Amino acid sequence: MSGSEETRPLVLITGASAGIGEALAQLYASKKYDVFLVARREEKLASFSKQLSKTHSINAMYFACDLSKPESPNLLLNQLRDRKLHVDVLINNAGFGLAPEFTNTSWAEQASFLQLMLNTPCELCHALLPAMRKQGHGSIINIASLAGYAPPGPGHTLYAASKAALIKFTQSLYLENKKYGLNIVAVCPGLTYSEFHDVNGQRDKLQNLPKFLWQTSDQVAQACFKAGNSKRAVHIPGLVNKALYTLNKLLPQRVSTQILKARHR
Ligand SMILES: NC(=O)c1ccc[n+]([C@@H]2O[C@H](COP(=O)([O-])OP(=O)(O)OC[C@H]3O[C@@H](n4cnc5c(N)ncnc54)[C@H](OP(=O)(O)O)[C@@H]3O)[C@@H](O)[C@H]2O)c1
Repeated sequence: MSGSEETRPLVLITGASAGIGEALAQLYASKKYDVFLVARREEKLASFSKQLSKTHSINAMYFACDLSKPESPNLLLNQLRDRKLHVDVLINNAGFGLAPEFTNTSWAEQASFLQLMLNTPCELCHALLPAMRKQGHGSIINIASLAGYAPPGPGHTLYAASKAALIKFTQSLYLENKKYGLNIVAVCPGLTYSEFHDVNGQRDKLQNLPKFLWQTSDQVAQACFKAGNSKRAVHIPGLVNKALYTLNKLLPQRVSTQILKARHR
């Protein structure tokens, strides 16, 4: 049960002001979930939550904060406590790509990147799981990436590493919480149309890639919704992404790394 007067379930979505998070918020609202949206752009969250409440007759709440700061998860959890909200579905989605090579960025940038991509999702899982276990229901969807399985390449150094860690973390959480009836899943999208490649400055490099390699944020959101109700630890959305994942498993790492190197050149 959520904290709202009617008994609608509540989904908490980080990174809900754009891309996959925005599509997830639209989808869950259309399925009559109350939504709690988190991101930094307060004006976007304010107008978006207003639109969602009006269109879908649900409660849409938001909290603007920078989840790359170590104190932010606690501020967010306090908001939930103050508003007496119980989260039924947690979606750790906020993220971005830090494209330059490792030493071409400051440690401060890398540290806040890790906070956003790993520490914050882990802390939110840690805080919200006990109530879900007690209730005997609840879902956690961690938005990882196909990059977490791809062979290593230069640049984006901690991106793939953080996504690989998020996948492993989710797989363990899934096993630990299976007996409590919880659904815990890492969703691993491939290339997805969103603001992601504008934010990390890679749009020009990628715009000539064939269209079949891309999914829309709506397609990924649909896949996440299904995955959140399935009993699986990992879900890869889309046939092309599944094929790439399988190919990578079959090829010796030496070969797949060479292919990736050639693509980088
Ligand atoms: N697009 C892809 O090709 C792709 C592929 C695989 C996986 N993913 C993953 O999918 C997730 C969503 O990405 P997207 O493609 O939807 O990108 P996006 O359109 O750029 O959206 C990213 C969201 O994260 C929020 N965000 C970024 N930094 C934040 C911070 N410090 N604190 C709070 N919120 C923050 C942004 O909101 P504000 O700017 O308002 O804070 C925005 O709502 C990410 O975890 C990404 O790694 C994306």
